[in-house]
Parts: sequence; structure tokens; C-alpha cells
Amino acid sequence: MVKNDMTAQNLRSAYGGESMAYQRYKVWGKKAAEEGFENVALLFEAIAYAEEVHAGNHFTAHENVDGDFLVASGGEFGLGTTSENLVGAIAGEEFEVEQMYPTYSLVAKEQGESDAVRSFHYSLEAEQIHAKLYREAKEKVDQGEDIDIEFVSICEVCGHTVIDDTPEKCPVCGRPKEKFHIFRK
Ligand SMILES: [Fe+2]
Ligand SMILES: [Fe+2]
Repeated sequence: MVKNDMTAQNLRSAYGGESMAYQRYKVWGKKAAEEGFENVALLFEAIAYAEEVHAGNHFTAHENVDGDFLVASGGEFGLGTTSENLVGAIAGEEFEVEQMYPTYSLVAKEQGESDAVRSFHYSLEAEQIHAKLYREAKEKVDQGEDIDIEFVSICEVCGHTVIDDTPEKCPVCGRPKEKFHIFRK
């Protein structure tokens, strides 16, 4: 639940941002597959699911507030080559890591909003990994190569993202291995 308007607004904004990220990663994933980057497509598909988890967490943390709100959220636009799309993906993740989630978290802590603190924390942890994975993918794609991955594990509770492994226990939310969804080609 959420008590304060400012944190409620930040939850809605983050919900909007994550929802848009989910959609554009689906589109950019299709584009990567069309260009022959099957594993980059897999990465986009898996990370889209992590953003869906985050959007759901923010929505749930806001569950006690009903109504119709105009939601302002940053979102990257553009459908270019996979290299260009990865520039957008990196920019979006870095904004969340460097500015959005640290600030939203501070406000939520100041306001004693424990559900929002948890939801923002889960997202911030995952987005750091996403930013790194997209940076690595862009390097490969710019050399004309696909990334070398077999499968991606995503925690359905917090969106924690792991390449080619599934932890016994999620290091972010503590849930067991069974809570991970596995994405493979
Ligand atoms: Fe992300
Ligand atoms: Fe988790």
C-alpha cells in the first residue's frame, strides 16, 4: 500500500516506464531476430518479462489508490537497427539506474513507504544488470556478431536476471529456484 501522494505518483510513473520498456523490448526483440541476432532477440524477450514483473510490482504497491491518473513517464522511442535500438535500451536502463530509482527510493524511504521501497529496490537491482547486458550486446552487434548465451533466468518476484545459470536462491528477493522463469530459443 501507499500513503503519500509523492510516492504514489512515483509508483505510477515507474509503472508507466516499465510498461513502455516491456513493449519496446518486444518490438526491438523482433527486429533483432529479423537481423539474425537470435540471442539478442532472446535477451530482449527475457528482459521484457523482467520489466513486466517490475510494472506489476509497482502497480501492486499502489493497489489501495483507485482512480484515473495522467501518468508521466520517460520512455525511449525509435525503431532502427539492432545496434541503434540497443543505444536506446542502454540509455533507458542507465537513466533508471543513475537517476530514477535512486531518487524514488530516497523519497519512499523518507516517507516510510515500505512497499514502494521494496518495489523500487527490486527494479534498481535488475536494471543495473540489464544495462550491463545491453552494453555487452551492443559491443558484439557492432562487430557483426550475436551474443553467446544459451538461456536467461528471470525471477518472477523481483525480475533478477541471470545468464546461463539459475541460482538456488534469488540473491535479491530470497525466493527459491522454482520462482525463476527460463527463456531459451
Ligand atoms: Fe531493465
Ligand atoms: Fe528475486
